Amino acid sequence: MGWGARTEDADAVFADRAIEVDRTFVSLDTDSGEIVGTTSAYSLTMSMPGGALVPVAGVYLVGVEPTHRRRGVMSSMMRHQLKGLANGGEAVAALWTTDPAIYQRFGYGLATWRSRIELDLARAMFSPRADALASASCARLRQMSVADALPHLAAVHEEIVGSRPGVLARSESRWNFLMRLEDGEPEVVVAMGPEGPVGYVAYRIRPGQSCASPGGEVEVQEISAVDPATHAQLWRYLLGLDLMRTVSAHRPLPDPLVHLLVDLRHLHATIDDALWVRLVDLPRAFGQRAFAAPIDLVLEVTDAVLPANAGRWRVSVDAAGEPAAARPTRGDADLSLDISDLGAAHLGATHLADLALAGRVHEHTPGALAAASLAWSWSPIATCPEIF
Ligand SMILES: CC(C)(COP(=O)(O)OP(=O)(O)OC[C@H]1O[C@@H](n2cnc3c(N)ncnc32)[C@H](O)[C@@H]1OP(=O)(O)O)[C@@H](O)C(=O)NCCC(=O)NCCS
Repeated sequence: MGWGARTEDADAVFADRAIEVDRTFVSLDTDSGEIVGTTSAYSLTMSMPGGALVPVAGVYLVGVEPTHRRRGVMSSMMRHQLKGLANGGEAVAALWTTDPAIYQRFGYGLATWRSRIELDLARAMFSPRADALASASCARLRQMSVADALPHLAAVHEEIVGSRPGVLARSESRWNFLMRLEDGEPEVVVAMGPEGPVGYVAYRIRPGQSCASPGGEVEVQEISAVDPATHAQLWRYLLGLDLMRTVSAHRPLPDPLVHLLVDLRHLHATIDDALWVRLVDLPRAFGQRAFAAPIDLVLEVTDAVLPANAGRWRVSVDAAGEPAAARPTRGDADLSLDISDLGAAHLGATHLADLALAGRVHEHTPGALAAASLAWSWSPIATCPEIF
């Protein structure tokens, strides 16, 4: 990764990141016996369309020694890992990648996006309606140390975790890892309602060089609220911080924040890929999420790594909001697509109709694409607020 060798820290890294040793693979050089590649998986719990919290394998730690690249080391680790998962592990795997060119060949598809925003505080203003919304919040904002705030953050997160696909449940060690980074603790403000916490923001400040003009930069680590009024209240707080020039954050796409501003052009955004998803066990994965509309069609699926997913599947959803049943069939296909496209569509944010426009999904029965695209889509849009 270019971080330099830090073998003396290995135990601390394992403990801090809660690396699961029994899910970690290494590749060994057959001559020297030295480790030349690694991959691992976290046992995550992720929210699916419809709000179910399901186990997902969070793949990470993928690396190959620079001296051993392009010899198939990563490929063999990826296949080995997926075959292991197919053999009784999670039905779905997910990852963040440093390089989007890598994982599609192993059946991962781009399931969520995120945008990096920067607000120019000299110009960005809340609209009168947004201001009224923020003022309607019954919560009081309280600045707290991370230690005091953690139980409140966890309570808010527990309330919102099922509200959008892609959000991860968090263990205590994960909270500690996220909030106690090497570069110091973030500032934390908790929105405390009459019956308990209803939102929070964690952020860091890079002060400006001069006291004469506002030059500070606010980097939002996380902002979370159980209702729109608290969400507006927390953003209004950030926009009003003294001596600051910009506020930056990673946001879901589309972002409700743009609707709170008078002029959204004072919010500068760039778009990035976020979570890549892989269906390991197609019928099981379809049974774990809700679909937005009833459907009954035959999919012809290709899967170069896990052949059990390949072939024709009759997929039926009885009613909107229900999971799908998938059974092997010999019937004619209505749509054909690759397992990576089903991974991309799995959280409801990437639409099958868009993949069809890119020539990746093929319609054989008129109307099947529109119906499937609607059934697979989900609102609110999926987002994964943390990199693992
Ligand atoms: C990315 C990395 C793991 C690839 O390992 P590797 O053992 O060289 O990969 P493989 O030899 O199995 O390559 C498999 C295929 O992927 C392609 N590939 C590998 N890395 C790629 C990259 N960064 N961009 C585009 N294609 C890539 C190879 O060209 C090869 O394609 P081919 O089968 O058509 O020839 C390795 O280069 C590495 O450790 N990089 C730095 C860390 C990193 O980026 N890790 C990924 C974190 S998400």
